Amino acid sequence: MRNFLQLFPELRTWVQTLDPEQTHRLCKSFEKIPFREWQALKIASQKAFEKKSLSVKRWTQPACFMLQDRQIQSTLWQQAESRGVQHLRHGKVAALTVAGGLGARLGFPGPKGLVPVTPLKRKTLFQVFAEKLRSIERLHGVRMHWFIMTSSDTHEATHEAFQKNHWYDMQYLHLFQQGEIPAFTTDGTCLLTHGPSINYYPDGHGGVFKALASTGCLDKMSAYGIETLNYFQVDNPLVYVCDCHFLGLHLDRVSDFSTKVVAKTGADENVGVFVNKGDVLQLLEYSEMPEYLSVKKTRDGQLYFKWGNTAMHLIQRSFVEAMAKKKLPIHITHKAMQYWNPLGQSQGATSCQKLEYFIFDALPFAKNPLLIEIDRKEEFSPVKNAQGQDSLDTCRRDQISRWNRWFANCGLNVDLNDKEINNAYCLEVSPLFADDYTSFKKMWNALVIKPNCFENLYLE
Ligand code: UD1
Repeated sequence: MRNFLQLFPELRTWVQTLDPEQTHRLCKSFEKIPFREWQALKIASQKAFEKKSLSVKRWTQPACFMLQDRQIQSTLWQQAESRGVQHLRHGKVAALTVAGGLGARLGFPGPKGLVPVTPLKRKTLFQVFAEKLRSIERLHGVRMHWFIMTSSDTHEATHEAFQKNHWYDMQYLHLFQQGEIPAFTTDGTCLLTHGPSINYYPDGHGGVFKALASTGCLDKMSAYGIETLNYFQVDNPLVYVCDCHFLGLHLDRVSDFSTKVVAKTGADENVGVFVNKGDVLQLLEYSEMPEYLSVKKTRDGQLYFKWGNTAMHLIQRSFVEAMAKKKLPIHITHKAMQYWNPLGQSQGATSCQKLEYFIFDALPFAKNPLLIEIDRKEEFSPVKNAQGQDSLDTCRRDQISRWNRWFANCGLNVDLNDKEINNAYCLEVSPLFADDYTSFKKMWNALVIKPNCFENLYLE
């Protein structure tokens, strides 16, 4: 209790009113993390109020393998694919999804992975990813391990949903839970819960390194011979899982940490951007980016920092092992949170300091990080908001236009232009049929009896 009171002397009078059992409970919950870590977090929370000056003198736009480079360097692009295929077929790649977030911004009452995302069948995000992985297993004759990071907010419901759905027919599924971290009031007191005990919260997706190590997943990966992790967020059903071109380029470059990027649609798009600070590649999160940098333009009118983070990464297992031993910087956001005051009274949503680690803060430690540009129409349409941009509506629309585009490219009479999809057919293609245009074309051409009515067509 001495350590607790050293950090939170303002709670002394209240602590004196606790009976021995309550004191014991509070102590136990305080000891969930080491005292040294408590001290560091408290200091970080105090520093969050200090004005920081950014020196942006040596910040430049980082290099990127762009869409046009696929044609210009076509041999490299093709060779990358065969290298990626080999790596995949040797069982050296696993999928890693971070799914610790709730669908709160969406107004969805549960883990975001359970949002019914597809336009016709209303499959959940988890089901879509599972189908992608099963189709890879079938295509490449390999077993796919899928590691899913949950949090105390999402674990139970996620586990239950997977169980209910027979694990979506995935044989090698590994759910593991991320770590937790305290939060603070704006006065610097830790948030409490009924009991009394400390209220802990998920520690951000940057907690994935430590969680993979502490839950034994890294040992499992090593035992299975997995060398590369295909990391993606739970919110984007268009993601190409185990893209062999990407894999090959990542391996050719001997990169520890590679990322797919999109050219930002505008200064106000909510994506983190990549920046070279001197020679070091880093990611500047949109919520922390000063406005004058977001709007900065090049002479030809393009955004100066335009490479937006899609959060689709390839990460070497050896790098995860190294990062699990390192400390990442802490990010602090002000957020309305519920908590109990020392009198045991529930406080309504009050502005507090939420602490989080971000995975991309590992980038400065990574060898040869690589950025490759993707076509957002094909691969990126996350579900984030209840309405407007990045909502379920825009995501379903983008899935529909992708599939209609594939039909149009196969010479079918689909009336579609990129901006206007009112004439598109409402249809759905399961990843088990095809998950990119090349495989779609192959599968479609191989169909002996082809459907001739597209509205409400479902292909699996
Ligand atoms: C994120 C990225 C942003 C990127 C954008 C692309 C961050 C901080 N920013 O923004 O750079 O351009 O996606 O769509 O991530 N998660 C956990 N545990 C946690 C917190 C989050 O597993 O404790 C998972 C979520 O389930 C989700 C992902 O991390 O899969 C991203 O979290 P979210 O808060 O939605 O990030 P964005 O603000 O959307």
